[in-house]
Amino acid sequence: MRKVYLVGFMGSGKSAIGKRLSYYLKMPYYDMDQEIVRREKMTIPEIFEKYGEERFRQIETDFLRNFRDEFCIISTGGGVAMNPQNRKIMRKTGLVLFLDATFPDIWKRIHKDKNRPIVQRSTKQELEDLFYQRRKYYREATHITIRTEGRSLKQIVEYAAFQIKRLKGE
Ligand code: S3P
Repeated sequence: MRKVYLVGFMGSGKSAIGKRLSYYLKMPYYDMDQEIVRREKMTIPEIFEKYGEERFRQIETDFLRNFRDEFCIISTGGGVAMNPQNRKIMRKTGLVLFLDATFPDIWKRIHKDKNRPIVQRSTKQELEDLFYQRRKYYREATHITIRTEGRSLKQIVEYAAFQIKRLKGE
């Protein structure tokens, strides 16, 4: 087990938790979206607009396939766990953590976000439907589910670190 992947819906706290977990466990941290933006030299909305969502999904899979073999923490984009190939790669190369947040909490965090094309093009109801459709795939991808409701970032990080160490056999 070399990598720790954080999966979950947009706004479930993957980046915030990933950064803190990286500090706590002294493991390097990568944000998949940021890595893609850096490599493609375009923002996520630009990639969606110029090449379409399908191309973006291909870039995500290429990233997972080719990312360097290193002990690290990776926060994934909210759509990554939908693809069976991606789930397979993540489970084979690391430990997968699902940050299970509630829709009301997620909505509060994402509804004004201009950098998320799926939020931009969807109504609240559509996002809620997507949230429920996707949960099944996050669960399928994951080794550990962490419910975030009512927990502070610190509590989530400590719990995640405890589970990671336990599963690594430390
Ligand atoms: C997406 C989530 C985003 C980003 C893209 C598509 C999705 O990542 O990859 O906008 O399909 O849920 P975050 O989960 O970090 O917002």
